[in-house]
Amino acid sequence: MASPLKTAKHSAIIEGEWKSAAEEEGAMSLEGARIKVRLKGPYRVDGPVTVVDVDGNEFELPAEVFALCRCGASRNKPFCDGSHREIGFEADTRAT
Ligand code: FES
Repeated sequence: MASPLKTAKHSAIIEGEWKSAAEEEGAMSLEGARIKVRLKGPYRVDGPVTVVDVDGNEFELPAEVFALCRCGASRNKPFCDGSHREIGFEADTRAT
């Protein structure tokens, strides 16, 4: 499998300015983008975003709609690889 990274391996942040409050519980919107917190899974990202590592290097996104790991078990961080199901991930709160 090809690496999702264009240039480096590190943790990721999402660039962008928050434009509005959540439109529904567990969802936040960036201009033209939407991030939905899944109850027992990842952050589902839909829309034009750039994900960069701590040095500002862009990750190659796996798809237009993709998921960011929030359980810590992914072998393809910062992206979700489904490992949250294997470990029985349950978040402490609905939006962390
Ligand atoms: S949330 Fe899916 S692997 Fe971590």
